[in-house]
Amino acid sequence: MGFDPGLRLMEPDADGIDPAFRRDVVQGLSQPHKAIPARWFYDARGSQLFEAITVQPEYYPTRAETEILAGQGADFAELVGPGRVVVEFGSGSSAKTPHLLSAIAPSAYVPIDISGDFLRQSAQALSRQFPALEVIPVEADFTHPVTLPDAVRGRPMLGFFPGSTIGNLVPASAVDLLRSMRDTLGTGAQLLIGMDRIKDDHTLLAAYDDAAGVTAAFNMNLLERINRELDGDIPLSAFRHKVAWIDALARIEMHLEAQRDLAFHVAGRTFTMRAGETIHTENSHKYDARSAALLLLAGGWTPLDEWTDAAGRFSLVLAQAAAVRMAP
Ligand code: AVJ
Repeated sequence: MGFDPGLRLMEPDADGIDPAFRRDVVQGLSQPHKAIPARWFYDARGSQLFEAITVQPEYYPTRAETEILAGQGADFAELVGPGRVVVEFGSGSSAKTPHLLSAIAPSAYVPIDISGDFLRQSAQALSRQFPALEVIPVEADFTHPVTLPDAVRGRPMLGFFPGSTIGNLVPASAVDLLRSMRDTLGTGAQLLIGMDRIKDDHTLLAAYDDAAGVTAAFNMNLLERINRELDGDIPLSAFRHKVAWIDALARIEMHLEAQRDLAFHVAGRTFTMRAGETIHTENSHKYDARSAALLLLAGGWTPLDEWTDAAGRFSLVLAQAAAVRMAP
């Protein structure tokens, strides 16, 4: 692997810590508006807490998306056709994938994930469930173009990106990612992507601040991870989970808010915060049909159709790789 400071598949250093984590946290805490990329939520505990979030009564996206996948399969199948290679980006546990695979009769399934152990486990489980299907896991960082296995190259692809993970990215980064997926999948490809819808702010705020406090624990776990892995002494009890709906940007923001003036150390450096100051930890962008279409078009994908759950809370959009530039 060549030297690339932006590369995300970095080996842990001598103390077993991902140097990219240290870099992102130290840089993020040094800015005038403190911010840490949301991808660092997902250590073992954070991944467990996220799974727990998805079954909270207030967190509708997972249930709404599963409802669409389970109910609209015949519709996808008609537009997608048989024999495609399904390439799932950030497959994780592949929990929603069986619905899609049984609906469209694909020729192969290529789950891409950065976490190799998890990837191989869930690929094996899927192979047992679909014994006739070719399953070829690829351990890679899908935010950069990925070289697909020789066995599937040249076949028509269907990218699958569920969960509204795209919503974590600001539009400029979302467009970069969509373009990179288009490079990975090639001409003639399709993309089935989950995008959460704009809705009343009461429903949105509750989904990110559940009564059981699971989302709060998920957010706070980032501080625990920093203390544990980066030799930190952040006073956890002086922070609280804070959620806001930013209407002008159509996004939920999660922050960790200091409850008093405080100072702490991380990775040998000292940081101070004033009461009320926050660390911005996540954006979750929401879309309507037009903003979803515009984002996809900007990323090189032409929308073909879209489906929502019965309550209209969540959408799955099917798009096809667009010509490089549409007229005029
Ligand atoms: C995994 C990015 C889709 O934004 O809804 C859930 C993450 N954060 N609750 C989302 C999350 C807080 C989730 N995504």
